[in-house]
Amino acid sequence: MCGIVGYLGYREPKEILFKGLKRLEYRGYDSAGIALFQEGKIQVKRCLGKLSQLEEVIQEASYHSTPTQNTYIGIGHTRWATHGKPSEKNAHPHQAGPIVLVHNGIIENYALLREKLLSKGHILSSETDSEVVAYLIYDYFKKGLSFEEAVFLAIQELKGSYSLGILCEEEPTKLIAVRNGTPLVVGVGEKENFIASDIPALLEYTKRFMYLNDHEMVIFTPGHLQVKNIEGREIKKEINYINWTQEMVEKGGYQHFMLKEIHEQPQAIINTLQDRVSKDKHALYLKDLKLSEADIKNIRKIFLVACGTAFHASMVGKYLIEEMTRIPCELDLASEFRYRDPIIKKGDLLIITSQSGETADSLAALREAKKRGATVISICNVKGSSIDRESDSTIYTYAGPEIGVASTKAFMTQLTVFNLLAIHLGLTLKTLSLEKATPYVQDLVRLPYYVEEILKQEPNIKKIAQKFYRKKTFLYLGRGLSFPIALEGALKLKEISYINAEGYAAGEMKHGPIALVDDDTPVIILAPQDKYYEKVLSNLEEIKAREGIVIAIGSEGDTHLEKISDYFISIPKKSDNITPLLLTLPVQLIAYYIAVKKGTDVDQPRNLAKSVTVE
Ligand code: G6P
Repeated sequence: MCGIVGYLGYREPKEILFKGLKRLEYRGYDSAGIALFQEGKIQVKRCLGKLSQLEEVIQEASYHSTPTQNTYIGIGHTRWATHGKPSEKNAHPHQAGPIVLVHNGIIENYALLREKLLSKGHILSSETDSEVVAYLIYDYFKKGLSFEEAVFLAIQELKGSYSLGILCEEEPTKLIAVRNGTPLVVGVGEKENFIASDIPALLEYTKRFMYLNDHEMVIFTPGHLQVKNIEGREIKKEINYINWTQEMVEKGGYQHFMLKEIHEQPQAIINTLQDRVSKDKHALYLKDLKLSEADIKNIRKIFLVACGTAFHASMVGKYLIEEMTRIPCELDLASEFRYRDPIIKKGDLLIITSQSGETADSLAALREAKKRGATVISICNVKGSSIDRESDSTIYTYAGPEIGVASTKAFMTQLTVFNLLAIHLGLTLKTLSLEKATPYVQDLVRLPYYVEEILKQEPNIKKIAQKFYRKKTFLYLGRGLSFPIALEGALKLKEISYINAEGYAAGEMKHGPIALVDDDTPVIILAPQDKYYEKVLSNLEEIKAREGIVIAIGSEGDTHLEKISDYFISIPKKSDNITPLLLTLPVQLIAYYIAVKKGTDVDQPRNLAKSVTVE
């Protein structure tokens, strides 16, 4: 995790770096720092805490960069601690002699390297794996090698994952960046170039990006950039144009990114559906899915693998795809799949779902499946991300940049894609008739309006949520397609309000969680009028019998459910397959308003990071 930025160009970079870090703060926020060239010397400022703290540290006018041969250079970092607790001394940039660097990732052999460096007389001052890299480069540099040669040799010794931004005081018109296993993009400007962990950091300055692959290194010098591979050979890279705008990565008047992103969901669904449904609603076009009819007919088994919220979307995907295709689907957490020697082979399809496209476990699962001969498709929000580039094809979710750490609109668009995909596969295999598919596709197309309808209940949902912010435990129950939404609702609440919440399959309640129920336990029951409805009502009665507080989310007009529950939130009654999307909105809003009332940091909850690029 961690966010890094770097600049080389004609502008004084303090503000560019700081603003870039602000946009990357979702990646980590326990300490931060920047390094600038001033009168030929590198000046490092670091501090414990969020970027607001760093802002105070760097604001003094005397701390600014001065150019060398009309060129300004700087690097910056916002940290999510892995090795060494959050503190000023463990904050980046790290310095070793003339070498100063920022790092995102984990150096797995750092202990060994550290021993070696200590035995050579180097004195390291932090507990981090990152400082070891700085000293390793310095150790080579000291021997009389150039900055570039020293970096090149040092990285050959590293095991693990790293994106690095590196400066050398003795070569003040050069910035070197390296990528291996954690994300790094190069922003290409006019007479200025940038690096960053993610595109939003640079959108204010450029829309042109290069995506580095693993084991690639980029060398910035005034007006020039050069990319080299691990053998030191220069390589040509394509420049990609990104159509995200600056406004997309700002709060736009909302109190939090999360709330803004919840409200963006109707538009995100429209964007995800656009050009993918025929006018008569009889055909779906998934142009980005590069699977021919024959490929689809040859699929033996489908594996759905992801982490966090994307895993919950994949669970919905499993239910939908199995129902519509009758192809057996296996669902797995990426962190489990990658190590459990999965029985996946040629003829199998792996679907990796990831908002960022950079989650380390998901990427490793993808590689494992490819190694074993499976075809890999991904459902991904970030074009050019590692998962996008390494998949055989990607179905994009057009959620736009998601900044809030708790995923909302990305989840909604992942569910939209799973609906499209399941219908497409079902129609191709003829396991789903056009007759059955058409009303369902019609509901899918109207989905943004239904979501708008639910949003109108926001004041009511807020009022309900605010009553419960002091509770210690919540239970979320659902069956069938509502079960993954129960899991997602509980995850949202846990992530941003730190309240313990359990998501459970309603039918399993009697096997354990019912012991939690008392008159102080709110139970959120997802009870749309689908084929599980009667069963869920029985579960609800079991909770009432134990004096639990029932907040039911059910179909509009369900007066019975409304009567037997303590609180009732309605959703439009539509096809079962789109109901998970409708249930999602109330559970997101409940979590959001409980957290706001509790006063937690909604967009940057403690201990979390949005893009988990370490194992
Ligand atoms: C982190 C984020 C979650 C996200 C998960 C998977 O835990 O906080 O919101 O669902 O990673 O991320 P991905 O980018 O692969 O969807």
